Amino acid sequence: MTGAPETMLATLYARALDARARQPILGDAAALDAVSRIEYDFPRTGITASTAAGVAMRAKLLDDWTADFLVRHPSATVLHLACGLDTRAQRMAFGPGVRWVDVDLPSVAVLRERLLDVPGGDYRLVHASVTDDGWWDEVPADRPVVAVFEGLTMYLTGDEVRGLVRRVTGRFGRGELLFDVYGSFGIRVQKLVPAVRRAGATLHWGLDDPAVVESWHEGLRCVDAVRSVELPQIAAEPLSGRVPMWVMARLPKVRDVGRVLRYRF
Ligand SMILES: C[S@@+](CC[C@H](N)C(=O)[O-])C[C@H]1O[C@@H](n2cnc3c(N)ncnc32)[C@H](O)[C@@H]1O
Repeated sequence: MTGAPETMLATLYARALDARARQPILGDAAALDAVSRIEYDFPRTGITASTAAGVAMRAKLLDDWTADFLVRHPSATVLHLACGLDTRAQRMAFGPGVRWVDVDLPSVAVLRERLLDVPGGDYRLVHASVTDDGWWDEVPADRPVVAVFEGLTMYLTGDEVRGLVRRVTGRFGRGELLFDVYGSFGIRVQKLVPAVRRAGATLHWGLDDPAVVESWHEGLRCVDAVRSVELPQIAAEPLSGRVPMWVMARLPKVRDVGRVLRYRF
């Protein structure tokens, strides 16, 4: 496993480190268990306690937004794209009205089947690229959709991201898109991100202005844009975690290194 698929071992390791922390943010015990069952040089990812906290905060925010959507739409489809080894479906404990679809590339999906328990309820795992045509028709467009894609957009080209957004918004009548992005500065300094560099992955697409995505579909609007250096849980971090974020949040360009976004249509 190399490139973008390998990077999901870095985010898995980050969630495992968080689960082991004295005050976990996400508390994903299944990540800890999965890490203990994979023979891989996890420290090679360069993930540290503070980057692990950042990954856990991003995941927590996306969990909270997904849960918020499901409270408002108890009958809904969840498209969890580029799921990797993320246990969002297990963490959500979704209700009987929810159809949950996890999607990742075949090499990752096979590993996922071997390592993680299948959640109960209306759940399926699709072995495919989000850019493939075939599998979309197998997901009925009969309910509002929440499409969650964490750690994906930067591995796609701009055309692929636009195609994905248009596919979801065009196929489903209404719903939300929850995802994270790199800014163009983050794309330029990607070689400084050990998990990306060591996996031999290349980041392509970055977004500086969330309004750009609104122009891709009529009625699509950004309802939340949270900078990665201003995630809500940072306030509860020890001083050693808060200070670097406080500094980064005041540096032009650097403060826009990444964002977590929520769009509604
Ligand atoms: C950084 S990992 C994130 C995984 C997971 N969302 C998480 O937060 O742990 C990137 C993921 O994107 C997936 N990916 C990259 N390109 C993809 C594509 N075209 N279709 C589906 N998944 C893709 C990789 O296989 C990998 O699981």
